Amino acid sequence: MAHMIVAGNWKMNASKDAVAELLNGLKQGAAAVKNVKMVVFPPFPYLAQAQLELSGTDIHIGVQNVCAAGEGAYTGEVSLAMAKEFGVSYVLVGHSERRALYAEDDAQVAAKYVATQLVHMTPILCVGETLEQREKGQTLSVVTGQIQAVINVAGGASFANAVIAYEPVWAIGTGLTASPSQAQEVHHAIRAHVASIAPKQACSLKILYGGSVTAASAEELFAQADIDGGLVGGASLQADSFLAIGQAAK
Ligand code: 13P
Repeated sequence: MAHMIVAGNWKMNASKDAVAELLNGLKQGAAAVKNVKMVVFPPFPYLAQAQLELSGTDIHIGVQNVCAAGEGAYTGEVSLAMAKEFGVSYVLVGHSERRALYAEDDAQVAAKYVATQLVHMTPILCVGETLEQREKGQTLSVVTGQIQAVINVAGGASFANAVIAYEPVWAIGTGLTASPSQAQEVHHAIRAHVASIAPKQACSLKILYGGSVTAASAEELFAQADIDGGLVGGASLQADSFLAIGQAAK
């Protein structure tokens, strides 16, 4: 399969100084990571810094969230057009932290997905089950249900310009990584579900794994047939560990 994607979700971490150090480290090391698409997702205030520092590198920029509306009276929100002005090309939609902490539902997630594609940016649709759902044997139905909710609104063909990130909620920030076979089982089910509606798009669809990915766990995860890279949280905050994960994806 063509290139892998390694994406770093910084969440609400960093400071001007920490961002300067991280971007500098990424700039230095990026050239050594070949045939892998690297993407960073800084908090909004650091987008200008990221755009400036990463220009001339192959590292792409994404945002962690966006408003589905175009402009106007939406206090506290950030539009896609604004993000685009800072060189942003990827948008995380439906991250489990936004679903859980900010009550984003499937309808809002689908609206953000559609709005992102409308301005020719790429949504990374995040899906994943909680520990309770996994223990009840609901993993595949929860994950395919989250994807189907988007298909119902955007259609299966929309996956020609989208990425899916499977992030089991119980593995995020816990140090508990899904085993390569646990992850592969879900990734395979995701691809099969998309294929049942949009076979052509399913073949080339990138499906990333997220949840406590480290340089140590990345290689075996990325070797799985349906794992096309990673969405990395904690380990993306240090240039060395993020670049090492990029190397593992080669
Ligand atoms: P961690 O890698 O810190 O578990 O975070 C994963 C994640 O939520 C990325 O979006």
